[in-house]
Amino acid sequence: MILRRATALDLPAIMQLERAGFPQREQWSEASWRSEVEGADRLVLVATEPEEAALLGVITFLVGPDTADLMRVVVAPASRGRRVGRGLVRTGMLHLRTRGVDTVLLEVRHDNDPAIALYTHCGFATLHTRPGYYGPGADALVMSAPVEADLPPLAGPALKGMNA
Ligand SMILES: CC(C)(COP(=O)(O)OP(=O)(O)OC[C@H]1O[C@@H](n2cnc3c(N)ncnc32)[C@H](O)[C@@H]1OP(=O)(O)O)[C@@H](O)C(=O)NCCC(=O)NCCS
Repeated sequence: MILRRATALDLPAIMQLERAGFPQREQWSEASWRSEVEGADRLVLVATEPEEAALLGVITFLVGPDTADLMRVVVAPASRGRRVGRGLVRTGMLHLRTRGVDTVLLEVRHDNDPAIALYTHCGFATLHTRPGYYGPGADALVMSAPVEADLPPLAGPALKGMNA
């Protein structure tokens, strides 16, 4: 698995992930993803296999001076449970550390068990709940994780195109 910065050339493959990952009413548009990929205050990473056009996964962070927000992470259904998500989160956090970020925040639906499990494995803990944030009965958990100074490096994936 290769992890690298996304470019606008990845947008069609990112949209494939988006359509496979979310029900239609929750899907981001290509224009939204273009803003992520091209935004100076964003960090967007993709996971790929060499020589393959399709992506394994994508993650995007909104990067502030001290904190970052994990805005979205999605892994192709056929690649789930193979630690692609974990690689994206942890590699993103390693990179954020080099940009001076010490805390990462996110919101997640209270019933998204795979995502909550992924985030918990990556060091996130729940700060509080926002009732009805995603609609009636659909609460959000607000989670945060420190960007540890001693975060162990990821074994495995090569890092390409990771310049700040
Ligand atoms: C959430 C998501 C990104 C997880 O990606 P993934 O690559 O399957 O996650 P990983 O394989 O890295 O799993 C990390 C940990 O989460 C847990 N986990 C993953 N999928 C799980 C599931 N379906 N049920 C329970 N736990 C799960 C595992 O315990 C795993 O730990 P392990 O490596 O010790 O076994 C993926 O399920 C997805 O794309 N979902 C749809 C989009 C979405 O909801 N994104 C989050 C909101 S933006």
